[in-house]
Amino acid sequence: MKVAVFSTKPYDEKFLTLANTGACPHELVFFEPRLSEATAALANGFDVVCAFVNDDVSAGVLSQLAAGGTRVVALRCAGFNNVDLQAAQTLGIDVVRVPAYSPYAVAEHTAALILTLNRQIHRAYHRIRDGNFSLDGLLGFDLRGRTVGVIGTGRIGLEVVRIMRGFDCRVLCNDSSPNPTARQLGAEYVDLDTLIRTADIVTLHCPLTPETHHLIDADAVAKMKAGVMLINTSRGALLDTSAIIQSLKSGHIGYLGLDVYEEEDDLFFEDLSNQVIQDDVFARLLTFPNVVITGHQAFFTRNAMENIALTTLGNITELEQTGKCANTLGAQ
Ligand code: NAI
Repeated sequence: MKVAVFSTKPYDEKFLTLANTGACPHELVFFEPRLSEATAALANGFDVVCAFVNDDVSAGVLSQLAAGGTRVVALRCAGFNNVDLQAAQTLGIDVVRVPAYSPYAVAEHTAALILTLNRQIHRAYHRIRDGNFSLDGLLGFDLRGRTVGVIGTGRIGLEVVRIMRGFDCRVLCNDSSPNPTARQLGAEYVDLDTLIRTADIVTLHCPLTPETHHLIDADAVAKMKAGVMLINTSRGALLDTSAIIQSLKSGHIGYLGLDVYEEEDDLFFEDLSNQVIQDDVFARLLTFPNVVITGHQAFFTRNAMENIALTTLGNITELEQTGKCANTLGAQ
């Protein structure tokens, strides 16, 4: 099939090209721009559009794609909050995704943020290079025996449970569909309120939906323990960033680790180092010594990239050959 790949970075081209070696390889054309109403015309005449997390797959864009002959949107990611599934269904466009490619990648990055913040690795790195060997301000705490609250125990959350149990932490979970393996690992399911009030570290692994938008707002933060560590590697809008900033200013939130940000589409995945950051909320976040931000890189391991490329192309082949695909998303 003819596939228009949007938001292409050199690594996307590399891994998709390497994986495109089946009996009937697809015709891949790589476009750097993000998919939007302004760029959708690039896909005219393409059967398939391959999109990523910050591509705009809203109703207006889907209408343009359908008019140009596109029949499939193949997401090369797990999250699909950027897609209007109802509009896709109405227009007869199949939407497929990569439900799991490496939950380990995201879970391990979550652990990296926790360890970095706790042991102040981000600050120590700069101090040592500057010849400053003072330990003042670098005091951490033993993870052993601390309570970690995991919100959402699907594929990624479960691996976070496994890792944190490995540190001998007490793990509290919240999920409407409890995961028996998490219980076998020694985690305990509690209601959200109990988790938020009890945990020393709160980490988010649920999808972004209308129900979870700003799940962690000013009220939720106020219930958290003083000095709590908050980690979000899921989707930016799970947090009300302005409320988080107020709580960082008051010192109530002790540590914040983010791999995602509410308004990340204007920032992440681009080199903006020669520009002035226009987003004042993001700029304020960068001023706190106890905040570590990575630019949506939790998924970014070699293993995950290989799996993403293989599954994305496999989804397209399956649809081409059978008209069906197990990774098709239904309208919610
Ligand atoms: P999953 O679908 O396996 O698990 C999500 C879990 O969240 C499910 O068990 C579900 O029951 C639970 N859940 C849904 N609503 C909830 C709520 N209101 N409260 C508590 N739990 C709730 O998804 P997976 O693969 O574990 O991914 C989780 C999220 O991680 C994705 O939705 C995506 O947004 C994010 N993600 C981030 C990446 C990154 O690079 N930073 C990469 C991949 C995923």
